[in-house]
Amino acid sequence: MEQRFIFKNRKPRLDVFHTVWQAPSNIALIKYWGKTAPQLPKNASLSFTLSDAFTQTAVTFKPLKTPTETVSFRIVFEGEEKPSFRPKLETFFEQIVLYQSFLLHYTLEISSHNTFPHSSGIASSASSMAALAACLMDLEAQLSPMSEDLKKEKTSFLARLGSGSASRSIQGPMMAWGAHEAIPHSSDLVAVGVDAIHPVFQSYCDTILLVDKGQKQVSSTLGHQLMHNHPYAEQRFAQANRQLKNLVPVLQSGDLDAFIPIVEKEALDLHAMMMTSDPYFILMQPNTLHIIQAIWSFRTKTNIPVCFTLDAGANVHVLYPKNVAKEVMAFIESDLLSFCENRQCVHDRVGVGIKKA
Ligand code: DP6
Repeated sequence: MEQRFIFKNRKPRLDVFHTVWQAPSNIALIKYWGKTAPQLPKNASLSFTLSDAFTQTAVTFKPLKTPTETVSFRIVFEGEEKPSFRPKLETFFEQIVLYQSFLLHYTLEISSHNTFPHSSGIASSASSMAALAACLMDLEAQLSPMSEDLKKEKTSFLARLGSGSASRSIQGPMMAWGAHEAIPHSSDLVAVGVDAIHPVFQSYCDTILLVDKGQKQVSSTLGHQLMHNHPYAEQRFAQANRQLKNLVPVLQSGDLDAFIPIVEKEALDLHAMMMTSDPYFILMQPNTLHIIQAIWSFRTKTNIPVCFTLDAGANVHVLYPKNVAKEVMAFIESDLLSFCENRQCVHDRVGVGIKKA
């Protein structure tokens, strides 16, 4: 138990409290893949916080006459009650009630929607858990006033217990999660902001190419588990930490020639772990590879510093600095959209983190 995150005020507020928060998705440059209980990462990870791909969550906390044993809630997603979302949320509440005992004095009406297309294959657990954690922390701050810094820190802490990558959606432009010598104050418990980022990265663009909008055949949760008996796991964790160490000075200097190979290698290392686990699996699709090849040829031909990364799916994140956005968007339109389902993509960029709506 993390003592400093335990809610201590014993008097729950009794009136109805309603709050609405937005939290963005994030895209990892150094990937988190492998964890131990309670949701602690096997290596440090680092991501760009996104802007337009976000979840908006409203929570109405209604006081109860007698406290319950487990957190009482209803979940509505995009206008519909979602029983299928309950197990993940029940597990989340079981974990966090130790830190927010006041939740047992309320029933929660949670209503949530995403700005990105439904079933787009864009990871929604990061933005949805971060948005919910922000709502819960808003009530906690009413019950027991705290500094903004502590509030953000505990938001990341709670979000992490819901989904590891959600810990990194709280602030922008970049966050790192997992104790690492190159990141001051870094921790396995919460994500921290990465300081002194070169201006080029503060307005970086990410176009998400929707190659496969279907349900993934293998969930991230299972993928993380398969790292337990993975023959290359220890080398992978050490390598991710090394790549993060190499990336930090590059983020400060803005050296894009050094940035690109680290980022692309991380994406391929992540997928190499999937292909070599037992059972093995492949989340890339033929069109994922077509896109990667097209990005490489375009970069060689034009010298424009565009690169790709992948998360746990077939979609491709195309990363590029803002000053070449016009040329890259024209290239995406002419050469890449044909590899996407219904030519769909989401143009996003680096953002600032959670916001009260
Ligand atoms: C490939 O955070 O979705 O996107 O902690 O089980 O909810 P859980 O997993 P999740 O894993 C994200 C994996 C990744 C890499 C990353 O975002 O770092």
